[in-house]
Amino acid sequence: MPSEIRNIELAPSGEEKIEWVKRHCDLLRTLHEEFEKTKPFAGKKIALSVHLEAKTAFLCLVLNAGGAEMYVTGSNPLSTQDDVAAALVKAGLEVHAWYDCTDEEYERHIKAVLSAGPNIIIDDGGDLVHMMHTRYRDLIPQVIGGCEETTTGIIRLEALNREGKLEFPMVRVNNAQMKHFFDNRYGTGQSVWDGINRTTNLIVAGKIVVVAGYGWCGKGVAMRAKGLGAKVIVTEIDPVKSIEAIMDGFDVMPMKEAAKLGDFFVTVTGCEKVIDEEDFSVIKDGAILCNAGHFDCEIDMKRLREIAVEKKEMRNNIMGYRLSDGRWVYVLGEGRLVNLACGDGHPAEIMDMSFAIQALSAKYLVEHGSELKERLIDVPEEVDRSVAEMKLKFLGKSIDKLTPEQERYLNSASL
Ligand SMILES: NC(=O)c1ccc[n+]([C@@H]2O[C@H](COP(=O)([O-])OP(=O)(O)OC[C@H]3O[C@@H](n4cnc5c(N)ncnc54)[C@H](O)[C@@H]3O)[C@@H](O)[C@H]2O)c1
Repeated sequence: MPSEIRNIELAPSGEEKIEWVKRHCDLLRTLHEEFEKTKPFAGKKIALSVHLEAKTAFLCLVLNAGGAEMYVTGSNPLSTQDDVAAALVKAGLEVHAWYDCTDEEYERHIKAVLSAGPNIIIDDGGDLVHMMHTRYRDLIPQVIGGCEETTTGIIRLEALNREGKLEFPMVRVNNAQMKHFFDNRYGTGQSVWDGINRTTNLIVAGKIVVVAGYGWCGKGVAMRAKGLGAKVIVTEIDPVKSIEAIMDGFDVMPMKEAAKLGDFFVTVTGCEKVIDEEDFSVIKDGAILCNAGHFDCEIDMKRLREIAVEKKEMRNNIMGYRLSDGRWVYVLGEGRLVNLACGDGHPAEIMDMSFAIQALSAKYLVEHGSELKERLIDVPEEVDRSVAEMKLKFLGKSIDKLTPEQERYLNSASL
């Protein structure tokens, strides 16, 4: 099937973006070199649905250098960059994606990459796996396995697995230490504020920032808000995470109370309707709402659109909604992941680690997929560790090694 992208003429700009990323992705460059020689994916088809920007494009090129036939789509209607998609097509990959696609087009693009009959699936949020299990069951037998990038995708896979319906092994890439320790916390922490700042051009210092969810991502978003000089309020449903937020120096309260106080709101829970109609009814005039969770259901956009008496685009990626009493509420990037809809996503060095885990997990599936009994597996410890060791080497850092005596001490029962 021919690629479906907006405009192949945009390729030079996409190539520049990918070149820049390559310079900062030491691990992926190393894997590119290795895979070019060893061809671990020779004869294999890989379908990939990940936010289609330059770092993802480089991952696609690394897998392609390893012999994989690549079938690529995005994982969110607003995160695909058309110039990057064009650069991949120019490099000979099959791509089905464009920025601002409708829901129907998004689904068509997912179907297009699945109909190639992939052996490996690389998913971000679970859309490929979900569609394969519902509409493309005939293609399941040739799938060796897949990798899932994000927390929400893993929650969906775990639900499928609990019902005994997951048909092939999936690697929980997100759960690798070298993924969520850095990507979810430092990646989301930095890129969310990059997206908000470049879109709003407003001061954060002295403002009240409400962060909904104090998981791996929420911790990063709150930490960077504090660094920008904001007063941070955290909302949570988990008592332990709430205490952690308090001890980290943040205030904690229910959203119903925080809604009245916040200037900026960032939802990052993976849950739905975290900011709902009751919150809209008390939110301050001029409050800015955005979401960093995987799906656009964390702010109840449907209800906000229904109750708004006026809607006005204030700037690119900022939609204003006027409520019946005259208050304006502003939403960034239509409530989709703000760091990707309003920015370029995580820093290159962060995605270098996450995607090194992806590439090595895909290789692991090719080598061991047929032996795997479990449907949901974690990234093997040795892969996690080897990525950490490679990263340390590129950072120019060395660390201590246990002496045989210390090893004996740590392994001794009489410790
Ligand atoms: N924007 C990005 O680039 C990016 C990167 C990684 C992950 N994600 C997505 O962000 C979301 C969160 O990921 P994570 O790794 O931080 O997950 P996590 O499980 O570590 O944290 C989620 C937190 O939200 C809390 N929570 C759940 N429902 C809530 C509610 N109704 N109100 C308040 N708190 C609630 C949970 O108790 C938990 O502490 C997921 O959807 C994930 O896929 C986005």
